[in-house]
Amino acid sequence: MSIAEVVRSGGQLTATDIYNSAVASWAISAAWEVGVLDELNGAANLDVVELAEKLGLDPIATRGMLQALASVEIVTRDGDTVGPGPLFDEVNSYRSYFHWLSRGCSGLYTEMPSVLKKENRLGAFYHRDGAAISYACRELSEFSFDPAFWAAMDRLPTDFAVAADLGCGSGERLIQIARKYPHTRGIGLDIGRPAVEMTLREAARAGFGDRITAFQADARDLAAHAEFDEVELLTCFMMGHDFWPRENAVKSLRTLRERFPNVRRFLLGDTTRTVGYQDRDIPLFNLGFESAHDLMGQYIPTIDEWHGLFSETGWTLVGEVPIGSPAASVVFELE
Ligand SMILES: C[S@@+](CC[C@H](N)C(=O)[O-])C[C@H]1O[C@@H](n2cnc3c(N)ncnc32)[C@H](O)[C@@H]1O
Repeated sequence: MSIAEVVRSGGQLTATDIYNSAVASWAISAAWEVGVLDELNGAANLDVVELAEKLGLDPIATRGMLQALASVEIVTRDGDTVGPGPLFDEVNSYRSYFHWLSRGCSGLYTEMPSVLKKENRLGAFYHRDGAAISYACRELSEFSFDPAFWAAMDRLPTDFAVAADLGCGSGERLIQIARKYPHTRGIGLDIGRPAVEMTLREAARAGFGDRITAFQADARDLAAHAEFDEVELLTCFMMGHDFWPRENAVKSLRTLRERFPNVRRFLLGDTTRTVGYQDRDIPLFNLGFESAHDLMGQYIPTIDEWHGLFSETGWTLVGEVPIGSPAASVVFELE
């Protein structure tokens, strides 16, 4: 039986399946980043050496990567001839989940033995790659949060002059807003310097350098800023959990209410902690998301915990768009 058949029929995986999948997970992220997944998409038979040459890759290293992908049926391989395998389309559409894990969080998982020890859990006891996480999240958002985000945006009563995005990452959300609303300006706020630089760079590249600005700030305890008075739309995607635990989240969201006195709508989209799944059935991405945050000591609330929070924050929940993948994700519409 193939891995795909074993999994789909609820059968037992072997140690080999698990080991090969772990190697393949690295290969998926790399194959996306260097362009191999795009080359394979829709292709029939590709020659490994020609493929490597075209993309400026080492042919032997490329063959090794493709062998890892073939071991779990993401590609078919016959010597140096490769093509998309039975799992290619599914894996290719979810490649950003793999990238988030194996490129963005590799430092954290590599350091797991040290991270687990109580005595080490102080200060900067782990590291993740913020630039890789932003890269993954930009694509991840396209099929997960963006449709829900735009559904919520369509319900906005009127135009708005300035939008601020908390945890702006790559800046993509502000760029999309600037594209759709030609008179709107954007302010990106992020705790990480690389994200701020990426937002400024990408905004300039998209031709919005004069309408989008970004600066480094901690959204959990935001200092006042004159520009915030003009903000009418507030967005925050894939970082809402950073406000938690509960007591801190109440305080942070109240502070945001004060810092942005003229905000008419606050769209907060995030993945919450799954409830009710057997460990074996946890959907794609949620296990990585939950285990990584457990390792980092970052509380992940359930959707019910979010629901029980808003009444204490000065924000009123006026709508909600559920998201299927990642499971237990949602966009809250707050006023
Ligand atoms: C998973 S990324 C999501 C990026 C972006 N919002 C998106 O939808 O693609 C989370 C971002 O939030 C930022 N972040 C985390 N904690 C933060 C905080 N306390 N204040 C501001 N930004 C924060 C991270 O640096 C990172 O860029």
